[in-house]
Amino acid sequence: MEAWQGIIKRYRKYLSVTDKTPVITLYEGNTPLFKSDNLSRFLHQDINLYFKYEGANPSGSFKDRGMTLAISRAVEADAKAVICASTGNTSASASAYAAKAGIAAIVLIPEGQIATGKLAQAMIHSARVLQVEGNFDEALEIVKQLVKKHPVTLVNSINPYRLEGQKTAAFEVCDALGAAPDHHALPVGNAGNITAYWRGYSEYKKAGIIRSLPKMIGFQAAGAAPIVLGRPVEKPETIATAIRIGNPASWKNAVAARDESGGRIDAVTDEEIIDAYKLISSKEGVFCEPASAASLAGVIKLSKEGYFRDGETVVCTLTGNGLKDPDTALNVSAKPVRVKADVSEIENLLEDIL
Ligand code: F0G
Repeated sequence: MEAWQGIIKRYRKYLSVTDKTPVITLYEGNTPLFKSDNLSRFLHQDINLYFKYEGANPSGSFKDRGMTLAISRAVEADAKAVICASTGNTSASASAYAAKAGIAAIVLIPEGQIATGKLAQAMIHSARVLQVEGNFDEALEIVKQLVKKHPVTLVNSINPYRLEGQKTAAFEVCDALGAAPDHHALPVGNAGNITAYWRGYSEYKKAGIIRSLPKMIGFQAAGAAPIVLGRPVEKPETIATAIRIGNPASWKNAVAARDESGGRIDAVTDEEIIDAYKLISSKEGVFCEPASAASLAGVIKLSKEGYFRDGETVVCTLTGNGLKDPDTALNVSAKPVRVKADVSEIENLLEDIL
């Protein structure tokens, strides 16, 4: 088999590219789908749980799938610069792909509200980083105004190529399982990804590759749950900064994905998110970022209600890599113990294990 060369090469016929499109890729996609072995006692029902680990993408999040296509098409259209508002991952991804393409990236981030690793990524890729004294929703509004006035390409998920690229994650899940799962769980922020997965599953069904469709289940943080509440949230708050969004751009599409699939969009508290975040890392050996854990938090919550049926397959997307947010990991973990460089002192401390 040929070595993996990114999602455009692999899924070309499902994507709007031509022979003239210059493919800007960092070999994104082909991320692991693995079965959860150690969480059954935390789930209240007997389901087959899988994780799609998108933190394994080159910039550490699912955004790379959309960015390869958005940046390739921008370069094809002769763009010299791209711009986005971001809670961190879109800016990291846009900066990386713009660097690869040799074009400028401008990123607007909410001041003090993005994880350290994500900020570091945008900076080291030499993007123009603007910390806006406001939240994500305000930054996105500004970006929308700027692109009306200036020749710079918007690469937020309102750029249609972004969702088109992101739908390939659903293709990969089906290719790996040989069918669609019964349920697909995702964190919901700007609501693009749930829209993209639903599109991916629907297109695979139309193409005759899968026979059934999953129910799409999305989870917002309780302090940033506009879709659940049915109205925008002016001051969204959550520890999961990636999904700290009060007025999602793809709101209507997410509701359509929920309703057409017969799924659900619900809220999970920060406490539930952090519990799930710790479970995934301590029991499954996978380090995702807090927002990513909203998918598992939601599945645990629904399993308590008896939402699933025994034996059903549930895939949770872990949207981003835990290394992006070391501060939260340190804050919620036991502190390292300081000890003298002495064997017997160390033995004493480790009595319970040794
Ligand atoms: N998980 C992570 C790690 C994210 O970074 C995001 C969104 C989501 C989930 C939610 O996905 O917006 O498609 O519903 N991050 C965007 C950003 C908003 O700017 O990086 P969504």
